[in-house]
Amino acid sequence: MSPRLVTTVGATLRTATERLRAAGSPTPRLDAELLIGLVCGRDRSWLLAHPEAPLDDAADLESLVERRAAGEPIAYIRGFKEWRSLRIRTDARALIPRPETELLVDAAIDEIAARLTADDRPLTAWEVGVGSGAVVVALALRFRQAITLGRLTLVGSDASADALELAAENLAAHRVASVVQLACADLLEPAGRSLPRPDVIIANLPYVATDEVDARVGSLGFEPRLALDGGPDGLAVLRPFLASLPERAAPGAAVFLEVGVGQAGGIGDLAPARSSATIVPDLAGLDRVVRIGLSGSSGA
Ligand SMILES: C[S@@+](CC[C@H](N)C(=O)[O-])C[C@H]1O[C@@H](n2cnc3c(N)ncnc32)[C@H](O)[C@@H]1O
Repeated sequence: MSPRLVTTVGATLRTATERLRAAGSPTPRLDAELLIGLVCGRDRSWLLAHPEAPLDDAADLESLVERRAAGEPIAYIRGFKEWRSLRIRTDARALIPRPETELLVDAAIDEIAARLTADDRPLTAWEVGVGSGAVVVALALRFRQAITLGRLTLVGSDASADALELAAENLAAHRVASVVQLACADLLEPAGRSLPRPDVIIANLPYVATDEVDARVGSLGFEPRLALDGGPDGLAVLRPFLASLPERAAPGAAVFLEVGVGQAGGIGDLAPARSSATIVPDLAGLDRVVRIGLSGSSGA
């Protein structure tokens, strides 16, 4: 029988931190705090204020610590991630939302808000590759009123049925399931057929090179390959997506794309003819979001 880790919060924190440090976690203390907090049902500040509190569930904790020691992301172990002040349910069905994707959402929100203010035309915004649904939840919460008033149609799609299931759970958990249309589709396949051609497109599609995915560093070893693998150069999904825009997007559409470090400069070469490609600056100085403005006349 494996030994119980310890009996008080403070001692458990030390033991778990040491175990995770030895296992190579880059954030052993934070991981230990989050896992102990999960077992105790307490937040980190409570743990720090109560090092002498008894911990009865050391056996439960031990299995969680071992999962983390094996490299499983904290967000999968806890089952949620705090992202943009939202609690997003997370599991192996979809990518864990990343901090850099907040910039993508901010840029899309600014664009949609500006277009809603500019005139009374009804608008369609579409997120391609919703994954956990984090982005589309944020958009639905921000524009719930415009959607309810019929000013905005919000669509979210993904090629993964598993991811769509998780996205539906997150939309329901935030009480916005009824304002988003979800579709299982390859890229923008239903646009212009069963669904309207979008005026604003938001896409964080796979852009990691296959070699990097295969190296399984950090969470990449646990997240779905379909969410990550962008082929040999990372652009295998972005190329057909960008090529489909003239036919699938509304004339004059704005497309917000999250890309990998170093990819932003090359996106302009792949963007459709007569479109503009602008890098949306990131506070950290990294070029992670590109805005593509399509020409006002139909390219289809
Ligand atoms: C990097 S994840 C982004 C998830 C989520 N939007 C986020 O930002 O956290 C990419 C998503 O694109 C989906 N995807 C991959 N290839 C696709 C395709 N050809 N058509 C539609 N979705 C695709 C994956 O299933 C995955 O959910």
